[in-house]
Amino acid sequence: MNQPVTTPHSPTVVLGVTGSIAAFKSIEIARLLIQHHIRVLPVLTQSGARFVGPVTFTGICGEASRMDMWDPSFSGELHVALASQADVVLVAPATADIIARFAQGRADDLLTALTLCARGHVIVAPAMHPRMWAHPATQRNVQTLQRDARIEWVGPVVGPVANGEIGLGRMAEPQNIVSAVLARLRPPDLNDWHIVVTAGPTVEDIDPVRFLGNRSTGRMGFSVARRAAARGARVTLIAGPTELTTPAGVQRRDVRSASDMRSTLHDVLGPSLGGADALVMAAAVGDYRPAHIHNEKMKRGAQPIQLELVANPDILAELGSMRTGSSPLLVGFAVETADEPTLIEHARGKLSKKRVDFIVANSASIGFGGESNEAILVGSDDIERLPRMTKDELADRILDRVIGLRSGRG
Ligand code: C5P
Repeated sequence: MNQPVTTPHSPTVVLGVTGSIAAFKSIEIARLLIQHHIRVLPVLTQSGARFVGPVTFTGICGEASRMDMWDPSFSGELHVALASQADVVLVAPATADIIARFAQGRADDLLTALTLCARGHVIVAPAMHPRMWAHPATQRNVQTLQRDARIEWVGPVVGPVANGEIGLGRMAEPQNIVSAVLARLRPPDLNDWHIVVTAGPTVEDIDPVRFLGNRSTGRMGFSVARRAAARGARVTLIAGPTELTTPAGVQRRDVRSASDMRSTLHDVLGPSLGGADALVMAAAVGDYRPAHIHNEKMKRGAQPIQLELVANPDILAELGSMRTGSSPLLVGFAVETADEPTLIEHARGKLSKKRVDFIVANSASIGFGGESNEAILVGSDDIERLPRMTKDELADRILDRVIGLRSGRG
């Protein structure tokens, strides 16, 4: 295969590489970006260059690797020149230190100075030991930066880190980081939309310490919220209990039970559901709740116990039946343990029962937890089978279809 050609007019990404062992994956990130005809300008911090050499990046990117604000080979202000060329500044891996320095608005080296000067979006892919990520100082810095709508976070994810321990701190996979960059490079096409997204599990309390829940992590709904915001929409994310970080520019409302989710949705959508243009109902809403919540912790005994459960309202079906015209557009999810064709049959059943515009059907074994998903978009008279892709990519496909529905209906 010929090397893809990039020119000074190609979409341009500054790739900032900081001092983490995950820096070896930045080489793969650079390679993938170039395969997408993106021009990559590598910038290494001093410690980044201890993990991977500038020569490697220069060779792969066909552009000088920059490390020094005072680079004598460049006449002019290097940080301004790089920032002006970059459609996106990508920092991958981003250490706790660079995050702290971004949070302070420092500009005492090339990467911090050019990031402060960035004219477009900054994508940050943290990588560090889980205790460093969880440390209140790091979390404070992340929260500070989350107020800046231009900064987008990809990861970290739960997984093995350099010393073999497992936790939240591993850098997101290169493919997912690259998808976030590609997505940022497309023009915003949801500018005048308000999109409401539900995500995560709902949790039904049994007593003060026990609950009924499910294995949803919220990743799919968070991807929809992240991508909708990145594409210009105003986004309200109604999230069940999850550890995920709120995507940039997204208004988040945290809920616990199905009934909390229902009342928050009604609050956001208003009595005639006119408060949103589209609702993407990605939450795994619990179907049942205990008939009674015990005020005291239930005591252990030798005898079997019975837990009486009552059905939760089907929130989406309720909204589907309340809707008069085609607004808001309604998107449901169907996670099934069955495979095709039962999966599609069930999705079709839900489509008509809940009176929604389309259903994103996927198998529980694929959809839950991971970074990627494989789904079938089931409409009333068509089926769109999608290959396995990242959840952000799937989110874009769902949003593409939502846009198509509105323009189809004028
Ligand atoms: O019927 P099932 O639970 O598979 O339907 C899934 C879809 O319906 C999802 O979009 C989910 O968010 C929504 N749902 C709901 N209220 C419930 C159960 C599911 O809105 N009680």
